[in-house]
Amino acid sequence: VSRNTAAAIYDRLLSAGYIVMRQGSGTYVADSLPRVPPRPKSGRDRSSTFRLNEFWIRPDVTAAMGFWRDTPENIASPNAQPVIDFRPALVDSRLFPFDVFRRVTSKQLRTLERKPSAFKSPQGNQGNYALRKAITEHIALTRAVACHADDVIVTSGAQQAFDLLARALVTPNKTVVAVEDPGYPPLRVAFGAAGAKVIPIPVDDEGLIVEKIPKNVRVICLSPSHQFPLGVTTSMRRRKALVAFARAHDAVVIEDDYDGEFRYAGGAMEALRTAEAADVVFYVGTFSKCMLPSLRLGFLVAPDWAIGTLVAAKNCMDWHCSTPAQLGVAGFIAEGHLARHVRKLRHIYRQRRQLLLTCLKNDLSEWLEPLPSFYGMHIAAVARGALDCERIAASLDEKRVKIHSFNRYFLGPKKRTGFVFGYGAVDLDQIEAGMNTLRKTIARQQRR
Ligand SMILES: Cc1ncc(COP(=O)(O)O)c(C=O)c1O
Repeated sequence: VSRNTAAAIYDRLLSAGYIVMRQGSGTYVADSLPRVPPRPKSGRDRSSTFRLNEFWIRPDVTAAMGFWRDTPENIASPNAQPVIDFRPALVDSRLFPFDVFRRVTSKQLRTLERKPSAFKSPQGNQGNYALRKAITEHIALTRAVACHADDVIVTSGAQQAFDLLARALVTPNKTVVAVEDPGYPPLRVAFGAAGAKVIPIPVDDEGLIVEKIPKNVRVICLSPSHQFPLGVTTSMRRRKALVAFARAHDAVVIEDDYDGEFRYAGGAMEALRTAEAADVVFYVGTFSKCMLPSLRLGFLVAPDWAIGTLVAAKNCMDWHCSTPAQLGVAGFIAEGHLARHVRKLRHIYRQRRQLLLTCLKNDLSEWLEPLPSFYGMHIAAVARGALDCERIAASLDEKRVKIHSFNRYFLGPKKRTGFVFGYGAVDLDQIEAGMNTLRKTIARQQRR
C-alpha cells in the first residue's frame, strides 16, 4: 500500500487507542486495549422515572409514538425471510432517484460554497426562500393551493408542523382540540403534550362528522383528501360546514395533506385550504411520502396572523431545517424531478392499488369490504361480521406479514374493525403473496 494509506491507518489505530507512539523509539501495540465503558443500566427504573414528565411515560403516549416500531427480532436477523409490509405510510426507498438527487444536491452545495450564508443570519428564518418558492409551485400544481412563499414555513416533516401548531395554538388545560377518530396517533400526542384537551370525533363515509364537534373546540385536525386511516375523502358539504363552524366559533382547522399528490380517480377535489378559507385553515404537507421520510422535510402554509408566532416557535426548537437538505429539495423541485418522480410513483401505486382491490374482491370479499378511496398509498377494508382482526394481524406477524388492524388508530371506543393495506412498500408479487397468507389465516381462524 502507499505511504499515505499506511499513515492513515496508523492515525486511525492511534486515535482509537490500539497503538502507542514512543518518542524516539517507534510505534507499539498498546499494553491494554481500550474498553467501551459499560452502558449504564437502562430500562424503566421506577426510582428514577418519577423525574420524567408523566405525560411521556403514559402507556397510550408511548404506544402512539411507537407506531411503526419494529420488534427487536425483526431488526436483528439479517438472514430472516423478508417481511411483506402492509403497514401504511411506508415508502419504498428503492424507487427514489438517488443519482438525480445527489447530482442536484451537489450542484446546490457548490452554490452554497461560492456564496455562503447571505447577508442575513442563517438563524431566525422560516426556511430557505428557494425551497419555499418551489413548495408554492408544487402545491399549486398538485393540490390547487394558491399561496405566497411568505405564507410557508419549512418544517422537519409534518410531525414538527403539528408540534409547532400545538405550541402556538394551545393554552395548556384550556384549549380543546378535536381529532378524527380513528386518526393519526402521533398528531394527537403533539397536542396532548402541549396541554390540550384532545377529543375524538367520529368519521363516516363523508369524512369527519362536523355536527359532532362541540362548540367549545378551538382547533380541528383532519386529513380531508385521504382520511387516515379509513381513506375516505371529506365531501364538499362537510368541508363547507367545517369552515363555517370554524368561523362561527373562533376555531381553526389543521389540514393534514400527507399523500394528496397521489390521486387515482374521482372528480378533481382541491385542498380544503382554498383562497377563501386561507384565514382559518393551516395546511400541512410533507416530503416524506412523495420523496423520502428520512429527509425530514415538510411544510406548513399558515394564515398571516399566525406566521410570526409559528416562526418564533420553530426558531426556538431548532432555528431552521438543514440548509443543504433544503437546497437539495428546492433544486429537485425546480428542475422538474419531483413532478417526474410523483408521476412514476403514481403509476406504480395505481397498479398496486388495483391488485389489492382485485385480491380483496376475488378472494376476501366474504370477510372484508374495501372503503372507497381515491388518493394516497393505502386503502382500508372493514370487516363484515365478527372478525378478530387484531388476532389475525398477530398471527400474520409470525408469518412475516405486517399489517395493522384499525385498533391502534382509535382514541375513543373501537367502533369499527378492519385492516389498513399500505402499498408504499410492497411490490406486486409481495401483494399477491401477502393477500394469499391473509386469506388462509382468516379461513383457518373462521374454521375454529
Ligand atoms: C397521516 C399522516 N400524517 C402525517 C404524517 C407525518 O409525516 P412526516 O412527519 O414524516 O412528515 C404521516 C406519516 O406517516 C401520516 O401518516
